[in-house]
Amino acid sequence: MREFLKRLPKAELHLHIEGTLEPELMFALAERNRIQLPYASVERVREAYDFTDLQSFLDLYYRGMSVLRTAEDFHDLAMDYFRRASAEGVVHVEMHFDPQAHLVRGIPLPVVMEGLSLARRVAERELGLSTALIMAFLRDRPAEEAMQMLERAAPYWEMLDAVGLDSAERGNPPAKFVEVFERARALGIPRVAHAGEEGPPEYIREALDRLDVCRIDHGVRCLEDPALVARLRDQGTVLTVCPLSNVRLRVVERIEDHPLPRLLEAGLRLTINSDDPAYFGGGMLDNYLACHRAFGWSREVFIELAGTAIEAAFLGDERRRALH
Ligand code: HPA
Ligand code: ZN
Repeated sequence: MREFLKRLPKAELHLHIEGTLEPELMFALAERNRIQLPYASVERVREAYDFTDLQSFLDLYYRGMSVLRTAEDFHDLAMDYFRRASAEGVVHVEMHFDPQAHLVRGIPLPVVMEGLSLARRVAERELGLSTALIMAFLRDRPAEEAMQMLERAAPYWEMLDAVGLDSAERGNPPAKFVEVFERARALGIPRVAHAGEEGPPEYIREALDRLDVCRIDHGVRCLEDPALVARLRDQGTVLTVCPLSNVRLRVVERIEDHPLPRLLEAGLRLTINSDDPAYFGGGMLDNYLACHRAFGWSREVFIELAGTAIEAAFLGDERRRALH
């Protein structure tokens, strides 16, 4: 099964590029940029990744990215990940990035864009990997700041495949960002949002109704609301589910308790993704394998899930046909 899952052409729709920062690269970049890390060794970093909830992860995630300072750093971060993903049979990566988290610590958007853009071109040329870019707004920061970020991104609007919404979900409902998502819609930029990871099903409804998103990131808590499940099924809304992330952030106790089989049973369109692979103990192949072990799914199920990801990806017709 491992070989089969590895060879299966997989598209990753829910990934935070800053969450691909492995401790080894964190140390290398800290040295290059003469930054003191609060960890004695790579092993100590991994030991610190014992999360109790989303916020406890976000604290380390934002601390970890402090080593990213130059365009070269962002390039190296993304290329490191693209190489690992490609070696696992990933053929298309849609990466969220968090420009506000960089701007607040003095790294301007052009630095981030230069590094990521170069990495995307190299990945396409050297690995045959297609990529898409999702600029995420931090929902625990003011909506006005998100709007300013979108306006600052004007030189790059053409390069954005979508805007998204991430960071601490509870207490930061989608409705807070109606205006900035309206602006993105007016600009013709597609929209996605994290909803129903730690937040209630109501946030999923809000993301659909008020932000007009085309996919829901996570969305697993929809099961608490049968009418919402029926709606998601009837509309064919795709959920980008991240099983190992949900275990590590204690959204579920154990992978065996994960709602994926129930979501599938309910007729929803699902994809499997890695979210923050450096922090959650595995990339795309590990997530697929964990599902195989926990749920005993057949090859046909994985073919369907991987097919859904290619259907739901921000891909041109030609590339989509080539991958199907
Ligand atoms: N959830 C919310 N925000 C995030 C995550 C996540 O898993 N990873 C990076 N930002
Ligand atoms: Zn995420």
